[in-house]
Amino acid sequence: MALFSLPIVLALVVLAQGASFGQDQRLRYDDYSVYKVKFETQAQRSILRKLAEDRESFRLWHEAKDELHLMLSSGAFGEFETEIRKTNVTAELFIRNVQELIDSEEAANLKASRDGSFGWTKYNSLAEIYAWLDGILAAYPTITEGFIVGQSYEGRTIRGIKISYKSNNPGVLIESNIHAREWITSATATWLINEFLTSTDELVRDLAENHDWYIVPVLNVDGFVYTHEKDRMWRKTRQPSEISSCIGADPNRNYDSHWMENEGASSNPCAEDYGGPKPFSEPEIQAMSEFVISIKDKINVLLAFHSYSQLLLSPYGHTKEEFPPNFDDMMEVAKAYGDAVESLPYGTVYRYGSAAGILYPASGATIDWAYNEQGVEISYTIEFRDTGRYGFILPPVHIIPNAEEALIGIAALLEKCKDLG
Ligand code: ARG
Ligand code: ZN
Repeated sequence: MALFSLPIVLALVVLAQGASFGQDQRLRYDDYSVYKVKFETQAQRSILRKLAEDRESFRLWHEAKDELHLMLSSGAFGEFETEIRKTNVTAELFIRNVQELIDSEEAANLKASRDGSFGWTKYNSLAEIYAWLDGILAAYPTITEGFIVGQSYEGRTIRGIKISYKSNNPGVLIESNIHAREWITSATATWLINEFLTSTDELVRDLAENHDWYIVPVLNVDGFVYTHEKDRMWRKTRQPSEISSCIGADPNRNYDSHWMENEGASSNPCAEDYGGPKPFSEPEIQAMSEFVISIKDKINVLLAFHSYSQLLLSPYGHTKEEFPPNFDDMMEVAKAYGDAVESLPYGTVYRYGSAAGILYPASGATIDWAYNEQGVEISYTIEFRDTGRYGFILPPVHIIPNAEEALIGIAALLEKCKDLG
C-alpha cells in the first residue's frame, strides 16, 4: 500500500490542476485546446495573461501585439468563456485536442525510429542528436570541431559544432532550442549542419565554405529532455525556484541586458516568461554568454532559432519607442530573408520588424544581449513555421521544407549583409 500512495497523491495533485500523467509517466493533454484570442487594449492583455499564470489549466503558447494563443483544459473552459465575455475580446479555436497532435507526432517518431537511424522525417531525442553529432565529427575531422558551451543545471553537456572550410571566414553563430518545446529548431539546425557538409548544390557550397559556422543545436538541454520524457509543452529551464514550487525560468529573458525592464519579462516564477531571480541565474545562459564572449571577435551574425509564427525579429526587444542605429539595414536584411523564402514553391510568408515593435516588449533575450552588450551587429530571432495551426507540435513532414526555407533565407540574409558591407 505504502508503495502506491506517493504516485497516487501526485496524480491527484496534478489532476486538481488540470492535466494528468499517463501510464508512461508523461503529462497528457487529452482535454486541452488552443484558442487564439484577439485583444485591443493593454488592460485586456494583462487580464488574459493573468489567466495563464500560476495554473496548469491555462498555458500561454504565443503572444503578439494584438493576440494571445492560450492552451486550456476543458475544465477551465467555463472560466475562460466568462473571462472572454467580461473583457470583451474574441476567441477562435485553433487546436481542438492537443493530445491528438502529440500522439500522431509520437507515432511518426516511433515509426521512423523503427526504420532505423537519425533523420529528418521525425524529431530526434537529445541522445540521438549527440550520437549523430559524434558521427559527423568523426566523419569530417578536418572541417568540423566539437565544442562545449557548458553544463546545464541537471548536469548535461551543452554541445556545439564548428564548421570551417578555410581561415578568415566571417563567423555565424546559431543558437537553437533555447525554448524546450520548439523542436523544429534543433531539427532545422541539424539538417543545416548536414547540408553544409554534404550538399553538392552550388549555393549551399558557397554558403557553407565561405562562413565559419558555430552551431548549438540544443541550448536548453534539460528542458528539451523534459519535453521528450515528461511534458511535451515545457518551455523553460528546469532549475527549481527558491521562492516558489514552480520550476524553471525563461532562458530567453535571463540575459543581462535591460533585464526585466518595461515588463519585458515576468517576476512570477510560474509564468512562462519568468525572467529568473537575477540575470544569468540559469547556468545554461551563463555558459552561453561566456561562449559568445569567447568567440565574439570572430562572429558578426547571430541567429536565434525559435518557433512559431514565421517572423524575423531584430533588436530592440526591451522597447518599442527606440530603434537601433542600423535598423534600416536590419530591415533590408530581413526583407531579403523573407523574399528568398517566398521564392520557394511552399508559399510560406515571413513578416519582420523589431521584436518589441512586432510582438511585445521582451527583455533579456539572446539577440538583444548580443547586440546591445557584445556588439554583434546582425542579431536575429527567427520564428519558424507555422502560424498556429499546429504551433509547437509541427508535424515532421514540415521539417525539411522548413529547413529548406531557413537555408535559402539565411543565404539571402548573409548575401545582403555582404552587400551592405
Ligand atoms: N518568441 C520569442 C520569445 O518569447 C521571441 C522573443 C523575441 N524578442 C526579443 N526580445 N528578441 O522569447
Ligand atoms: Zn522561443
